Amino acid sequence: MEGTSQLAPDGARFAGLLAGFDAFGSETRRSETDGVPVFENEFWTAKQRQAHPLHEVSYRACFKPQLPRFFIEAFTGPGATVYDPFAGRGTTLIEAALLGRRPIGNDVNPLSRLLIAPRLDPPSIEDVAKRLGDLELALPPSLDEPDDLLAFYHPETLRDIARLRTYFLEHAGDAVDAWIRMVCLNRLTGHSSGFFSVYTLPPNQATSAARQRKINEARGQVPTRRDVFEIVLRKTKALLKAPLPATLGMAAARILTGPAERTPEIADASVDLIVTSPPFLDVVDYPTDNWLRCWFAGIDAEAVPITLHRSLTDWERFVAACFREFARIVRPGGKVAFEVGEVRGGKLALEHTVLAAAVGLPFDPLAVMINRQVFTKTAQCWGVDNNAKGTNSNRIVVFERR
Ligand SMILES: C[S@@+](CC[C@H](N)C(=O)[O-])C[C@H]1O[C@@H](n2cnc3c(N)ncnc32)[C@H](O)[C@@H]1O
Repeated sequence: MEGTSQLAPDGARFAGLLAGFDAFGSETRRSETDGVPVFENEFWTAKQRQAHPLHEVSYRACFKPQLPRFFIEAFTGPGATVYDPFAGRGTTLIEAALLGRRPIGNDVNPLSRLLIAPRLDPPSIEDVAKRLGDLELALPPSLDEPDDLLAFYHPETLRDIARLRTYFLEHAGDAVDAWIRMVCLNRLTGHSSGFFSVYTLPPNQATSAARQRKINEARGQVPTRRDVFEIVLRKTKALLKAPLPATLGMAAARILTGPAERTPEIADASVDLIVTSPPFLDVVDYPTDNWLRCWFAGIDAEAVPITLHRSLTDWERFVAACFREFARIVRPGGKVAFEVGEVRGGKLALEHTVLAAAVGLPFDPLAVMINRQVFTKTAQCWGVDNNAKGTNSNRIVVFERR
């Protein structure tokens, strides 16, 4: 039988589990909100087991692998079905696969699939090196090389990127091609020589060409020639430097593209655990952040119906629609860990809205976990931006399906 996850821990067992985290941060603070126990600590810290390097592709507002790992290990056993309806770069799916669970993912942006699928089915470094060598010799002429992109790239680098883009758009390709395209998507822009571009914003945020011209002027820089093939091989070696478990593979995995509120492809009561993080009001502008990646992938970024709600009432309605769908697909006793942030300069903590959205649905709230994060360079990976639009804590509302 699929979804062999054991146990449906009750609130008390879950509380005991959280108490165990005192070893990592300071003591867990306990309180209550809306009648639900709240646990607050620095739950996921650098002292914990390191994440697999396979996760290391950047994506705006992604969470740390330790977050889904905690819930996957707490609530499921091998073979269980773990789903992320807002999959992004696929942190939940990759971690589920690494732990021998069956991953299902969904994201409204088709880019997500391109980032996730190759890492669930990685080729060998040797195969990637050989294919890169073949491609370097025999790439098709490029379909187009937008002049605007010269703000980011040396003309010859742009030619290589555009030819690779054409190759991927014109070939169905195999797993090795899919891997190379995924790595290219992650090397398009960034702030070091490990990227194809001149110095720009970190790779999880693409700036506009006009803004990049200003950055170039201010820094007195011009894009220099980059060896895209060497950069792709270097990043491949970094992603694949640790052993991969035999459980990895696309055979059992499913990745869907569409709105989280409507997933008819997923059978009733077939999911053991959801670990996810939805778009929070209008904190992150995914289309703007991903425009260059979408160009490379041949996706019309403007046409992707990303959810962006400016009013809390609309956002609550959206979350309620998602939970109605979760009520259909999560089996009785299954869990949902729904991660949100605080927005509007910390004045609005979204867990209250999540709890309100689930009222009247067959979900019992088990706890709210608040992860207080000391600001670090890597905190961006939590959507922590250290500015007015950012969020300084992760707030996870945990539910059990009745
Ligand atoms: C906070 S990010 C998730 C990041 C993910 N946890 C990770 O670690 O990569 C939210 C994601 O929701 C997607 N999204 C926005 N609206 C959506 C919708 N209505 N249905 C499904 N996905 C949506 C965005 O494209 C984005 O990838």
